[in-house]
Amino acid sequence: MKLKRKDLLSIEELSVEEISFIIETARSFKRVNERDIKKVPTLRGKTVINLFYEPSTRTRTSFEIAAKRMSADAINISVSQSSVKKGETLKDTALNLEAMRPDCIVLRHASSGAPAMLAELLDCSVINAGDGMHEHPSQALLDMMTVLERFDSLEGLNITIVGDVSHSRVARSNIYGFNKLGANVTLCGPPTMIPHGIEEMGATVEYDLDRAIRGADVIMMLRIQLERDRVPLFPTAREYADRYGLNLKRLKGAKEGLLILHPGPINRGVEISPEVADGPYSLLIDQVTNGLAVRMALFYILIGGPSESEHEAEEPDSNGKERGTA
Ligand code: CP
Repeated sequence: MKLKRKDLLSIEELSVEEISFIIETARSFKRVNERDIKKVPTLRGKTVINLFYEPSTRTRTSFEIAAKRMSADAINISVSQSSVKKGETLKDTALNLEAMRPDCIVLRHASSGAPAMLAELLDCSVINAGDGMHEHPSQALLDMMTVLERFDSLEGLNITIVGDVSHSRVARSNIYGFNKLGANVTLCGPPTMIPHGIEEMGATVEYDLDRAIRGADVIMMLRIQLERDRVPLFPTAREYADRYGLNLKRLKGAKEGLLILHPGPINRGVEISPEVADGPYSLLIDQVTNGLAVRMALFYILIGGPSESEHEAEEPDSNGKERGTA
């Protein structure tokens, strides 16, 4: 199977088959990352540009390492040192970058829909690395991959997402993804952080954390996004931690074998206690490891075909697979 799309903009647009194909491909790249020599020639001659208008540690670094492990040239644009600071628009920045013939632009932007706008404007592939409060599709793919390493299927699993759902692109992508794979999704948080009508996306709302934990197979804690609001959506961090923070005491009511996810970065002692973040149920570090494999899979699937000059020289086999693939 090959994805018949130029870009990755959302989980909403992906079919179950496409999600499964991306995760399956990521599993083979995870094995590449476990070797002594982790580099493959798959994207030799390709160029990837990371264009991040918001801060990032995990996503930006893993897209960069993914491109480099696959022998692509990876360029990071630091917006704070670019002509954006002189007032250049996103559209002009993108058109100028495309004039240098990259194969893929990975975009993180504070505005929902910015990657979709670039995808329409540009011939090269565009990957959404998080847009406003809309989606963060590569995060949801790595989250689904991480859960699927512990369970054979998501069908019928109870997955609870806790925290600042209103601001969370991670929550939106995961609600789509978990639902598509057959899980039951519950959202929990203070009423100010749960958008009105979110149930229409296919989720149940529970405002009491102890009840939301009971029966959950997976709990995903969300970061409190202190930078987004001038007026906080809860009185103090301490009160938030008391009512919605995950700690060892609360986990006494949890199901055996519970898994805990968090997209990072974490606010230790606010939404998650250090004992839980570093404890045996926590998969936070596995998520980051899988993030690299997912991003390698996305590059392979979206831009991993032969370049024009290679294409003239030799045809790929009937599966489109050729030298150096995972
Ligand atoms: N999970 C996530 O998107 O982390 P970064 O903001 O560090 O990329």
